[in-house]
Amino acid sequence: MSTKTSAQRASFSGRLGYVLTTAGSAVGLGNIWRFPYLAAKYGGGAFLLVYLILVMTFGYTLIISETAIGRMTKKSPIGAFEHFGKGPSFRFGGWINAIIPMIIGPYYCVIGGWVLRYLAGYAAGGVKALSGDNYFSDFISDGVSVEGWFLVFALCTVVVIFFGVQKGVEKISRLMMPALVVLALLVAIYSVTRPGALSGVRYFLIPDIRHFSWMTVVAALGQMFYSLSCAMGILITYGSYMEKDVSIERSTSEVEFFDTAIAILAGLMIIPAVFAFSGNDAARNLQAGPSLMFITMPKVFGSMGMGTAIGIIFFLLVFFAALTSSISLAETCASTFEDELHMKREYASMIVTVLFIGLGTLSSLGFNVLKSVTILGMDFLDFFDFLSNSIMMPIAAIAICVLVLRSVTLKGIEEEVCKGGAKFKRKKIYTFIIKYLSILFLLVILASSVLNVLGIIHI
Ligand code: PHE
Repeated sequence: MSTKTSAQRASFSGRLGYVLTTAGSAVGLGNIWRFPYLAAKYGGGAFLLVYLILVMTFGYTLIISETAIGRMTKKSPIGAFEHFGKGPSFRFGGWINAIIPMIIGPYYCVIGGWVLRYLAGYAAGGVKALSGDNYFSDFISDGVSVEGWFLVFALCTVVVIFFGVQKGVEKISRLMMPALVVLALLVAIYSVTRPGALSGVRYFLIPDIRHFSWMTVVAALGQMFYSLSCAMGILITYGSYMEKDVSIERSTSEVEFFDTAIAILAGLMIIPAVFAFSGNDAARNLQAGPSLMFITMPKVFGSMGMGTAIGIIFFLLVFFAALTSSISLAETCASTFEDELHMKREYASMIVTVLFIGLGTLSSLGFNVLKSVTILGMDFLDFFDFLSNSIMMPIAAIAICVLVLRSVTLKGIEEEVCKGGAKFKRKKIYTFIIKYLSILFLLVILASSVLNVLGIIHI
């Protein structure tokens, strides 16, 4: 993608095209699966508050920076960094951004496989069985089944990039996305009105300092990167397709708003249901981690009329949201291989397939066949998630901030943001954060996750 000259480079059709495509990449499992389990685990309302503050400050700063850099250079991350200099630090900055999707993509497909398994389960009429207490743990410990469903999802993803039919999928998801919002809204209303759910609503919406820990901040920051698809070069690439007369600030704010609204909706769908459906076990179930959505939602569907139909529709919509995101991950990886290693499209797609299947298999077998293998105390999926979100993304974000301060300059960003007479309303906040706060804050977060995992500090 990035080797094309600016004259040839494809562009989004106007602001709506940009917003819809970027939102398609941003809204995915991060919002529906990852956000609720992190919020449940790391402090409920305290997590939500920290998350919102981070999105409006650091998230906003990064989104603007990446999009402006992309549009200014018309390149994907590696090329964009090299546009400003050829030294090893520029190469490092570009590559770290480009490698992150290669780590996230494979395990993303594993979770996509779980979604497909549940979709098939509902389609086969298993609404009661799926809501059973051990359904998820039985499934996950069956290596053949987890691997099989992962392969189906991964193949759906790579087939799309092989044949270059993203456009078709995007069209379908544009219909699916509003449907997802409506269904999530209905399910959230059902969840919060269950007996006992109110304490869950309170836990999720009202910050309580006793539930706050430093881990709340670390997890919220990683989630912010993940959910907004920032600090991994994707927004640089998307910015490079943005036309000059589209307002960067306005369109990125819309993506930010939409992404956050869906995450909150998913939180309202899942967290109150944990309280309503797990009785005395609520405190323990809040700690469930990656399995939370798969344990809680079937209980909700199992308790309602038309549970089978709603289960099918829900997992189908989640599947589409996940698919657009996984395509955007795979596509970014393929274009890095194409552009930087000068590979043909078919070879690049082939390497992406091998990479996704190889690393994804480690993650899917990490719960069963490879259960005894742990890295720094984590199973493979947790490890890849930790490595990308808590280590590499803060580094990638630092690289972007340094690039802005040293090479692009604040003036350069301002000029790009104000192109075509657009406004830069939050310029003061932007400047303050990028100049004085971002690098220091990111370094502190990075150091604390590293020291924590090495057992030197406990957060
Ligand atoms: N933001 C996506 C989500 O929330 C994940 C993703 C990250 C997709 C990076 C594309 C690129 O699920």
